[in-house]
This record gives sequence, C-alpha cells and structure tokens, in this order.
Amino acid sequence: MDCIVDIKKEGNKVVASLPFDARAEFNIPKGSIYVKCVLENIQFKSKLMSRGNGRYCIFFSKQLLKDIGIDGNEKLNVHLKIEPDTPTLLPEFTEMPELINNEVLKAISQRASIRRFSEKDINHVQMNTILNAGLCAPSATNKRPFHFVVVKDKEKMFSIIGYNPYVKMLKGAQACIIVCGDKVVQGIPEWLLADCSAATQNILLAIHSIGLGGVWCGIKQGSDFYKGIVKEFGLPNNIRPVSLVAFGYPGEEKTQSCRFENSKIHFETW
Ligand SMILES: Cc1cc2nc3c(=O)[nH]c(=O)nc-3n(C[C@H](O)[C@H](O)[C@H](O)COP(=O)(O)O)c2cc1C
Repeated sequence: MDCIVDIKKEGNKVVASLPFDARAEFNIPKGSIYVKCVLENIQFKSKLMSRGNGRYCIFFSKQLLKDIGIDGNEKLNVHLKIEPDTPTLLPEFTEMPELINNEVLKAISQRASIRRFSEKDINHVQMNTILNAGLCAPSATNKRPFHFVVVKDKEKMFSIIGYNPYVKMLKGAQACIIVCGDKVVQGIPEWLLADCSAATQNILLAIHSIGLGGVWCGIKQGSDFYKGIVKEFGLPNNIRPVSLVAFGYPGEEKTQSCRFENSKIHFETW
C-alpha cells in the first residue's frame, strides 16, 4: 500500500503516524504487526507501535534517519510504501548432533539465568570458589585487569536497584559480584570489556556448577546505573564496572532449550 505519512519529532523520538488502521488493512487480527517499507528509496523493516483506536506508527531509529538523510527536527510529509512482513521467526533449531559430554560441558549447556532466589545464605567456601573461577578467566596479553566488588549487605544491594529497572532481582539475591576492570592495567577498552566478560561467564558457570543460580546484569558505560555503582561503591577513576552478577540459592527451576542452530555456523567462510 502507498500512503503519505507525517514524520515528526515527539519528545526525543521521531515518529511516522500511519493514516490507516494497519491491523484491519493488513488483516492481522492479533499479535505484533511487522512491516516492510520503502521511504525515499530506502528499504527498511519495522514493528508497528499501536497508539490505540486503530492508530499505528513507526519509530525511526537514529541510523534510519541518517540513511534517509533527515534529522527529524522539522515536520515532513513523505511518500511511504508499506506492506506486512513476516515477523523474524525464531531460529530453526536443528536436532542436536552427537556431542561429547562432561561436567564442564553440562554446566555450559544447562546454565540459565536465575532471577529468583531462596533465603538460604551462601558461605565463604562457595564465595571463594566463585571468585577463583572469575580470576581464572583468560585476558588479553594476560593482563588480568579484573577486580571484583563482593556485596552481601542487603541495603547496599537495594541501594543500586533505583538506578536500573532491570536489576530488581537484587532484592532477593544473597549476594552480588560487581565485575570491574582496571582501565590503566589493560589499556585497550575493547580488551577490558572482553576480559571482564570472560570473568563474568566463568563466575556464572561456577555459580551454576555448585548448585547456585545467578544472572549477568550489564552495566552500560555512562548510564545512571554505571554512575550509581561508581558512587555507591566508591570505585576509583581507573576502574570501570562492566557487569554485575546477582546470585544465591535458586528460587526457580529453569531448563535450557537446545541452542544448536545450523544457520549460525559457517564452515571455512561465511
Ligand atoms: C551483557 C549482558 C547484559 C545483561 N543484562 C541483564 C540485565 O540487566 N537484567 C537481567 O535480568 N538480565 C540481563 N542479562 C541476562 C540475559 O537476559 C540472559 O542471559 C538472556 O536472556 C539469555 O538467557 P539465559 O542466561 O538463561 O541463557 C544480561 C546478559 C548479558 C550477556
């Protein structure tokens, strides 16, 4: 379908409001509506946002605005070609091929993010085991720039929930480890991120392997959460918090599905 849409700024978002009821027009009685569009010869895909009463709109990402060559600051009236698109289907999982199995591989394939915890406390041996796993992680040029801030104090854990809605599980966690990296020791920011990510995964696997459960929480550089952590835990200037792992005895049971996807494996070349 071809239509003329208004593109204008609403708050900090640039939005195109569709002049028709997309659900009725595309005969999609329920669920999300995905569309393929052409605007100023630029093709893009999007998910429509409902504004109630049959009104739908498209939010434009910064990249798309750049591709189209508009900044969204002035209202535009443009031609849009739009048609329904099949949603990106979940990847097709193939049957699991024959694999070697051992304790390490079992932990890797069965680990799942745990966000509910029981009230049972964890002990020093468990904590040290987990920290040792973190410290065993590989690091670029073996710089081992990791530092771990271990927090068991409930009030301290509560104090950072306000900075990030995605870490509410800290309310029930028995402890958390803030994985940090020393920027000066590592030098290269990408390596610091990679080193700390390797340590985080080791920590998660150790947690899982000793019958506990945990979840990796990201700390985006410069975010309120990042600044909150720096402030609440007094991190020095050279220390960058990279992730936080909340953990404890699991208060929920989770099984992992098969994640073997042929489509993600490229032999010899892409
Ligand atoms: C970089 C990164 C940041 C994440 N941040 C959060 C977070 O802030 N809150 C959360 O609940 N989970 C977070 N997760 C966990 C992911 O949601 C989780 O790993 C993903 O849904 C896959 O589930 P699984 O861990 O059970 O395999 C994060 C994971 C990574 C790798």
